[in-house]
Order: sequence, then C-alpha cells, then structure tokens
Amino acid sequence: MAIRSIARGCGAYLPERIVTNAELAAKVDTTDEWIQARTGIKQRHIAADGQLTSDLAVHAANRAMEMAGVEGKDIDLIVLATATPDHTFPSTATTVQAAIGMSGGAAFDVQAVCSGFIFALATADNFIKAGQCKRALVIGAETFSRILDWEDRTTCVLFGDGAGAIVLEASEGEGPDAQGILSTHLHSDGRFKEMLYVDGGPSSTQTVGHLRMQGREVFKHAVTNLSNVVLEALEANGLEADAIDWLVPHQANQRIISGAARKLKMDTAKVVTTVSSHANTSAASVPLALNVAVQDGRIKFGDLLLLEAMGGGFTWGASLLRW
Ligand code: ACO
Repeated sequence: MAIRSIARGCGAYLPERIVTNAELAAKVDTTDEWIQARTGIKQRHIAADGQLTSDLAVHAANRAMEMAGVEGKDIDLIVLATATPDHTFPSTATTVQAAIGMSGGAAFDVQAVCSGFIFALATADNFIKAGQCKRALVIGAETFSRILDWEDRTTCVLFGDGAGAIVLEASEGEGPDAQGILSTHLHSDGRFKEMLYVDGGPSSTQTVGHLRMQGREVFKHAVTNLSNVVLEALEANGLEADAIDWLVPHQANQRIISGAARKLKMDTAKVVTTVSSHANTSAASVPLALNVAVQDGRIKFGDLLLLEAMGGGFTWGASLLRW
C-alpha cells in the first residue's frame, strides 16, 4: 500500500477589523457598486498595527492542531506559504515553529503568491510520500494590506489579510476512493512577471514596495490556466468533473470563480465562495475557504475536494483531496 497524506484538521484566522467597500470609497475614487459588480467583494479583514503574518498563522495553526488533536511537539514539518513574510529572514515558518512549541523537524516558507497554499500542500505531500516526515502543518498566511498602494483604486480594493492551515498526516491508501491527497499539479511561467508583481524587494530597491497589476490580462490568464490545471488533475485520477463534491477555489474574483465552475459544468451550490467577505487573501484564501465549509458542515468526511489557485509569477496549481 502506498503512503498517502491525509487531512486531520483545518483552522483559520481573520483579523478583527473589517473594512467595507463604503469605507474605501471614502478614501479612493471608487464605489461599493463598482467593487461588487466587478469582483463580488463586499468587505475585507485588515490586520491591526503590529499584528504580523506569523501572528495570524499561529492562530490558524493552533485551531488546525486542535481539530486534529495534536500539539506542536507532534508536528515534524511546517511549510508556510506567504508573499508577505514578517521579515526578509528568518522565514515566517520558523517563527510559527517556535510559537507552537515544535523544536524538532523542519520549517520553511514557500513563495508562489496566490498559488502559495497549493505549492505548500504539494511540497508537504511529497515530503510525506518520500517518508521524510510524518505530520505536517501546511499554512497560508498573508498581510497583503502592507504591500498595497492605498492610493491605487485598481488594486487596493481587491485584497485582505488572513491565515488558514491544515494538518496532514502520513497514512496508507490507493486510488480515488481512499482518504487523503490524490494528486497535486503545479505550474509556473516566469514570462508574465510584469503583469503582477511588487515593485520593491531587498535585492532590487531595499524597500518593501507595492503590488502592481495589469488586472484585465491577469484575469484572462487566470481563467485559461485554472481550467487547464483542473482538467489535468481530473484526468490524472481518471475522474470526471461530476465526481467532485466541492470546488474550493482561490478567492480572487467572483467572475473568475464562476468562469472556472462553468467550464466544469459544476452547480454553483458545490462551489465554496468567501470572496465577498474575505476579498483576495492570496495564499490564505484556499485554506480560509476550506475551513469555512468544514466548520459549517458542508464538507464532510469522504467528500472529494478540488482545490485550485493562480497567482503572480505566473504560478498556478490544483489538488484533489478526499477529506
Ligand atoms: N473603482 C472604480 N473604477 C475602477 C476601479 C475601482 N476600484 N478600478 C478600476 N476602475 C476603472 C478603470 O480605471 C477603468 O476605467 P476606464 O474604462 O475609464 O479606463 C474601468 O474601471 C475598467 O477597468 P478594467 O481594469 O478594465 O476592469 P475589469 O473589468 O478588468 O476589472 C479587475 C478589474 C477587477 C481588477 C479584474 O480585471 C480582475 O479581477 N482581474 C484579476 C486580477 C486578480 O484577481 N488579481 C489577483 C491576483 S492573481 C489572482 O489571484 C488570480
């Protein structure tokens, strides 16, 4: 029997402060109507002054470990996806490691922007399948509010802060009916860097910089790339779209989510959407959405989930996971 990574628990955390579209409209030239019609976003959570990405991540990790019935000492790998780390170094993952009382094993960050959680999940899954760890904490955590240009209405209305986490554990299983991660599929194409990037960084400007984006171009690539990677994941497992119980997509824009669901001919009732209340939380968006649907009872033991995301780089990926 092959080693398989099964999900033992999940958790999430959103900062207390909610910023509505109306609040943003008082600061930049935008309206609640424009934001809702173009994106589906109604509000976003914004981290308090001094509240760091690692703080959000630790809350989410603790909740995921509680659901899994494990403690920090039981974890032997942390893979944390973020594009907004606390510091240039050390990794945010090692800060979380210390905070949850995990002293052994390894902890590191991965950087694939909005696809970060799928990249982190794939990394942890492969470590588990290679026998290099037994129980991994996979976290997506972001404070995108810190890299937004709050005077640029084309980007500042789109993003929010938050964190989500999942505990994976080595088990045994084979085939699409067994619990756990069936497969992960990752892609990147560095030729499109200029369409979505941050105009700062330690090596280039010695500043943090701000997010810059050609929204319409990103939108087109997102719909195509996501459709392709979702089909790739289904094909790799010999499954049809109707086998999916829940689509848990990256929450960038309601129109991108609906486009992906339409291509799969999926009933919108089977699509988990949180973009209206969380906005785009980058690497945190998939585990935040997953956690909402697990906590409210929609996702049940044995359900087949399709996770997908696309982000700067470009990077994109998908995973089929039997909960
Ligand atoms: N309020 C009011 N008007 C605005 C705003 C705003 N916040 N932002 C832009 N506009 C204006 C533009 O200036 C433009 O005006 P013009 O016609 O006079 O020039 C008009 O609205 C239309 O702008 P577009 O950019 O063409 O609008 P579009 O329908 O493409 O929507 C959006 C923009 C929402 C950014 C969309 O392109 C999108 O969602 N793209 C995907 C980007 C994304 O989600 N990126 C996240 C990271 S990658 C990922 O997660 C997939």
